[in-house]
Amino acid sequence: MWRTFYLLRAGRLLLAHWRLVVLLALTGVVGASAGCSRVADMALAVPGTEQPSNFPSMVYGLAKNPPDAATFALGRRLFYDPRLSSDGTVSCGSCHRAEAAFSHEGHRLSPGVGSRLATRNVPALQNLRWRQGFMADGGVLGLELQALAPLTSPLEMNMPLANALARLNADAEYQRQFAAIYGPGPIDTPQFLRALAQFVASLTSANSRYDHYRAGSERLIDL
Ligand code: HEC
Repeated sequence: MWRTFYLLRAGRLLLAHWRLVVLLALTGVVGASAGCSRVADMALAVPGTEQPSNFPSMVYGLAKNPPDAATFALGRRLFYDPRLSSDGTVSCGSCHRAEAAFSHEGHRLSPGVGSRLATRNVPALQNLRWRQGFMADGGVLGLELQALAPLTSPLEMNMPLANALARLNADAEYQRQFAAIYGPGPIDTPQFLRALAQFVASLTSANSRYDHYRAGSERLIDL
């Protein structure tokens, strides 16, 4: 039942934002045609952009949203900005805590705006660049679109997309940061979602002893 619910929810989101979907698809195509070495050079400044040898191929490849330090910093700022919630108290980082691998330690369910409880336990955010579907049921197919679910959920950030964009456009510092990356003009939906996705996509766990073991560079120790 939940799977159907999320598929419907994802479907509704896609329908409601079809212009965005088309735009993202187009920018993806344009991005994919950018020179690979340029993308690789810019990516060096951003964490989580290397392909670990024991991981499958990236789904959200670097060319789809070429990583660079300025966009990563902007995405990080958006992730931690509570003004993206209706009452200005909840950010993505309220529920996804860095010190707990971007989950919410000690909370079975986490509070959104007005202390309303979300309906599921907060998962850790890691290695999302390598994932096809998101949420417990895998019903949201696309990292950039995923953020629309918590943003607009009445139990989480309760923020219509248009209001989020209005708040960003009213902030001189955001205007400056977005314009430096995407050029002059009002901050729009693809810019907002792609900057945010750039930060979320960087959260990678590929350097643990388990990873080294999987990559063949560390042996199990007999206890
Ligand atoms: C009120 C708490 C809360 C807030 C705020 C919140 N999240 Fe989440 N997040 C969750 C929960 C709970 C889930 C699991 C939902 C599910 O599986 O249906 C989740 C799932 C996710 C996932 C999917 C993880 C996976 O493994 O599939 C991503 C990515 C994510 N959130 C990013 C964000 C971003 C970006 C923001 C801000 C725009 C955000 N979250 C805000 C609670 C929150």
